Amino acid sequence: MIVPLPERFAEFRHVVVITGAGISAESGIPTFRGEGGLWRNYRAEDLATPSAFRKDPQLVWEWYEMRREICRQAEPNAAHQTLVEMERHFREIGSFLLVTQNVDGLHRRAGNENIVEIHGSIWRVRCTECGRECERLHLDTVPPHCSCGGVERPAVLWFGESYDSIVLETVRAALEKADVCLVIGSSGQVSLPVALAREARRSGAMVVEVNLERSEFSDVADFSFFDKAGSALPELWASWRKLIR
Ligand code: APR
Repeated sequence: MIVPLPERFAEFRHVVVITGAGISAESGIPTFRGEGGLWRNYRAEDLATPSAFRKDPQLVWEWYEMRREICRQAEPNAAHQTLVEMERHFREIGSFLLVTQNVDGLHRRAGNENIVEIHGSIWRVRCTECGRECERLHLDTVPPHCSCGGVERPAVLWFGESYDSIVLETVRAALEKADVCLVIGSSGQVSLPVALAREARRSGAMVVEVNLERSEFSDVADFSFFDKAGSALPELWASWRKLIR
């Protein structure tokens, strides 16, 4: 249940949202660190790495194809829809940026537009030979091959790889001017998003967390609402809208 929000929420104009796997859980997409996070007894950390791909591209692609099929069947839920309403509101009076760790594409399918997929997209591939990147909703072969003959990998950020510096600059610039940073459905096990929320707080933004349980973000947050995103986020937005004159 969302407690009455501080009057300060009425003044917010610039909003940055950081989402994690928890926002897609109610759409039927398993999170990484809850149950269902394993596949053939492999963890994400065992498969989402350059060395795992070099060793067995077929196995890694079978894992991604399984996840792509789950994502294909999934529908955006009430939490995703709430972020679309929020973007439509705040882009008129200020700014709105959605920073997602999720690769499932559900935010775009829900209708959000100003999105930064900091961990890439499960729907895009990149050639390991020529570097060409493109969208591949369906794979003719597993692993897929580029027109140059090279093997294509998922265009996602793997463990041990670096974040795109231009993407990070975009996110940091938005956090600099943010009035509020919402963090939804992330354990904070990956440290960069937690560091980003900390930077936002240092720049004067309020940090608000919606998560099923305490996370690495909880000590950074001014407020934490421990509930399912699919119910807590619509409630939060309904309370927030009541404050907006
Ligand atoms: N509503 C809100 N939060 C939820 C829900 C829900 N319905 N269901 C689960 N959660 C919470 C869990 O309690 C957990 O804290 O969502 C969080 C999901 O955490 P992770 O599974 O660690 O996912 P995430 O934080 O997105 O992982 C970050 O790690 O494996 C890498 O690249 C991968 O992007 C991923 C990154």
